[in-house]
Amino acid sequence: MKKIIASNFKTNHTRKSTREFIEDINQYLSEKNIDNDVYIFPTATSLDSFETASNLTIGVQNAYYTKSGSFTGEIGTIHLDEFGIKTILIGHSERRHILGETQKEVALKYNYFKALGYKIIYCFGEPLEVKQAGLTETLGYIWEQFDGIDLNYENLILAYEPVWAIGTGISATTEDIGTIHRKIKKKIDKPLLYGGSVKVCGLQDILEVPNVDGVLVGTASWVAEDFKKMIYIANKMDQNSKKIICSTEE
Ligand code: 13P
Repeated sequence: MKKIIASNFKTNHTRKSTREFIEDINQYLSEKNIDNDVYIFPTATSLDSFETASNLTIGVQNAYYTKSGSFTGEIGTIHLDEFGIKTILIGHSERRHILGETQKEVALKYNYFKALGYKIIYCFGEPLEVKQAGLTETLGYIWEQFDGIDLNYENLILAYEPVWAIGTGISATTEDIGTIHRKIKKKIDKPLLYGGSVKVCGLQDILEVPNVDGVLVGTASWVAEDFKKMIYIANKMDQNSKKIICSTEE
């Protein structure tokens, strides 16, 4: 399977710079004939009608489990339908830990968007104190994040994002990633991404870890040139390039 490369803009980029970024990436994919699946999750205010190649998908970082209604500050599916958005991130740790989304709410959201056939990138991962408590505790914590989640859903992609590695500049080691991904894959046969301080130059090592089907990148993906390098590396690796590369230089 070709590696999946996804960019989560979080609270970054304006409407104008988002359009420039998406157009840039779209052009790059066609110029280089790249057919890896690429996802971009801009802010809700930057959603628009974008003309993109079939392997470039624009998704939403969050939406409420409603078509419309009285949910101040939220958007519903009428706002996504306006731009043909059919892909959503659910369960991101920033929504769980900063915005206080409970597992019950995450599951409600999951089931709502599942019923509508959305592609769901479902995020899960443990905080530092859980990791420090050991592997059994970590796996126990992760399984709880699957409560109420239909893991057989056909349009599901999973993303393991250890909280302690997100936005900290400290990526999990390839050993850590390998251990968790193996355990998850044993039970759930779905594409599984890694996310948490992925950088251009660490990308190939991470993508080479067994059971890593791609990456969900925050900070290091916000500059289009860097995101292009990541796409380039993933594409080269699919062609069996053995060399560690962290630039678009041949
Ligand atoms: P960083 O790459 O900034 O650590 O963020 C990862 C992430 O949360 C992607 O969803």
